[in-house]
Amino acid sequence: MRMLGIETSCDETSAAVVSDTNGTWTIGSNIVASQAAIHTEWGGVVPELASRQHIRDICGVVRAAVDTAKTDLKDIDAIAVTQGPGLVGSLLVGVSFAKSLALSLNRPLVAVHHLAGHIESLFLQHGDLPLPLVALVVSGGHTSLYVVKELGSYVRVGKTRDDAAGEAYDKVAKLLGLGYPGGPIIDKRARDGRDDAVALPSARMTHADRNNPNLKGDLDFSFSGLKTAVLRHVRERTERDGPLTDSEINDISASFQRAAVNALLDRTFEAAERYGALSVGIAGGVSANSRLRKDFADRAARLGFPAYVPAISLSTDNAAMIAAAGLRNFHAGKRAAMDLNADPSLELT
Ligand code: KG4
Ligand code: ZN
Repeated sequence: MRMLGIETSCDETSAAVVSDTNGTWTIGSNIVASQAAIHTEWGGVVPELASRQHIRDICGVVRAAVDTAKTDLKDIDAIAVTQGPGLVGSLLVGVSFAKSLALSLNRPLVAVHHLAGHIESLFLQHGDLPLPLVALVVSGGHTSLYVVKELGSYVRVGKTRDDAAGEAYDKVAKLLGLGYPGGPIIDKRARDGRDDAVALPSARMTHADRNNPNLKGDLDFSFSGLKTAVLRHVRERTERDGPLTDSEINDISASFQRAAVNALLDRTFEAAERYGALSVGIAGGVSANSRLRKDFADRAARLGFPAYVPAISLSTDNAAMIAAAGLRNFHAGKRAAMDLNADPSLELT
């Protein structure tokens, strides 16, 4: 069957066609219109500008996805759309568009959780992975650990108590004057810096989460302390000796990145051991990070876990992963009704 996926949860308008034949997924197209250039000027995503731009882009992006896949709207079998979480105005553009399309083509509509999409990007890239899979989903809005014991089921075993890792990258980049989005820029600057130049803390959660006392909480993350430590270092240093030099910015980027990557990988492999993982994956925008990818592969090899990451184009927000998760939901018999609404704080637990 041929699934059209639509993703508009943040600042990328994306549409994709993914087909499955005998359980194998094939990407026919994956079109992404990024709004990064619009939001750069403001140092972060401006929700009102984002939803307006989605409205401008959605028709052309869906048309391009259908054309690139060399198919026709009438040959699409079902439509999958991100229901949440994300920016409500942005989500509403995708949800309304998908509902209208499903109604006019008389095709089923499938709702997808954005993080399920990120997790499914691992299966879209690599086919069936040995289960249980422990997956770290790490993006601008989320840093969570999931255990997938069977296909299509996602159990959250850890999450950030404050900032997401991508958010910490973006905030540190902003305070170093490097622009938005910060992840790719810090990634690049860090390559020319010394990662032991600045001593930065790595937080460990030792107490249970008040909101989820069933979990011990020791697989949770916290990035606000790390961000504050960078802020304090930069403030003290600039008050003393004036503006940072380029090589100092590289050193701070490398030191921050080392602390962030270690915090992510420590919990991920702890979860992998604890839940008897037969595969370990990292998905979401930050999984594009070059050091995270390299250290992940090295540690996994050392500890004997098969390790998986999606291609860069499937790491950051895209509709192919939404179409894939939509296929998973569709085959599990899930359908959305025409009263489907966007849910900015939809949970996947
Ligand atoms: O998954 P995504 O595209 O959108 C959300 O669902 O949030 O993730 C975007 C985040 C941003 O915070 C961005 O700075 C970060 O992913 N990111 C990176 C890299 N590329 C994107 N972070 C670190 N290194 C990268 N190379
Ligand atoms: Zn995302």
